[in-house]
Amino acid sequence: MTDQGSRIKIAIQKSGRLTDRSLELLERCGLKYSRGRDQLIGFGENMPVDILLVRDDDIPGLVRDEVCDFGIVGLNVLEERRLQFLAEGRDQAFRVVRALDYGHCHLAFGYPEDGPVQSLAGLQGRRIATSYPRIVQDFLQREGIEAQVIEFSGAVEIAPGLGRADVICDLVSTGATLAANRLREGETILESQAILIRTVREVPAAKAEWVTRLLQRIDGVMQVRESKYVMMNAPVSALAEIARLLPGADAPTVIPLEGRGDKVAVHVVCRENVFWETLENLKLVGASSLLVLPVEKMLP
Ligand code: PRP
Ligand code: ZN
Repeated sequence: MTDQGSRIKIAIQKSGRLTDRSLELLERCGLKYSRGRDQLIGFGENMPVDILLVRDDDIPGLVRDEVCDFGIVGLNVLEERRLQFLAEGRDQAFRVVRALDYGHCHLAFGYPEDGPVQSLAGLQGRRIATSYPRIVQDFLQREGIEAQVIEFSGAVEIAPGLGRADVICDLVSTGATLAANRLREGETILESQAILIRTVREVPAAKAEWVTRLLQRIDGVMQVRESKYVMMNAPVSALAEIARLLPGADAPTVIPLEGRGDKVAVHVVCRENVFWETLENLKLVGASSLLVLPVEKMLP
């Protein structure tokens, strides 16, 4: 526990849309941690893994500078920083490991309901308020639109009301913020979700084994989210049909039923959610005693 050089550091958002799900992901990987008094570091108690709770905007830089080995951050923040690092001549600042399939939201234009601009075509020569100036600028360039991008660090949605901008470009999740500010949602320029990133350089050898284990566990957690263990009894003659009906199924385990030559028990892991319709269709081809169980852990 004392050797800092062998501990893996993961940066996550201190408070915001990704915080709870990111902590939950790490907990589901088996990590038990205690938070120090300053609450900015969670010390792993049963794994050599520490969590740094920081502002999301700082996460790409912390990974670039190898202060942290990993970071979990929204693609919106990641892309904005990537464009910034690129402009500064650092094109290889971090590596994307995988998309984590939570924290979904999108970056979209918001047009004041009664304003003069109601489409991309109307943006020419206008002022756009955003916290993502580089992503917006990049988009405008590709679309051949010339407009003034004004950077706001927060409360972007009030910029038009204050007369500081004609339109905004901001993150939208439920759409409640736009609606509350009488803004109509326009074109999406980026779909975002939580992304796991890591340093460009390989981690030191002392950390390598636990990095492999951690990444394998994250894969496992991702897979079990949708996975189901399905059990049923079925006529032998229906096995081919059953295999066809089960979504994303591995090869099923077929077990003979005592004293029933024509029937078997079928156990199978499905890597997609199993809906009522599927169960009803399985019943139609002769399956009975259907049981669908959540999968707790998975290691291929
Ligand atoms: C975003 C955005 C809006 C809100 C939109 O902020 O700036 O305020 O979310 O969500 P809604 O469509 O559900 O109303 P966020 O919470 O991500 O804060 P941050 O940009 O400061 O990290
Ligand atoms: Zn932020």
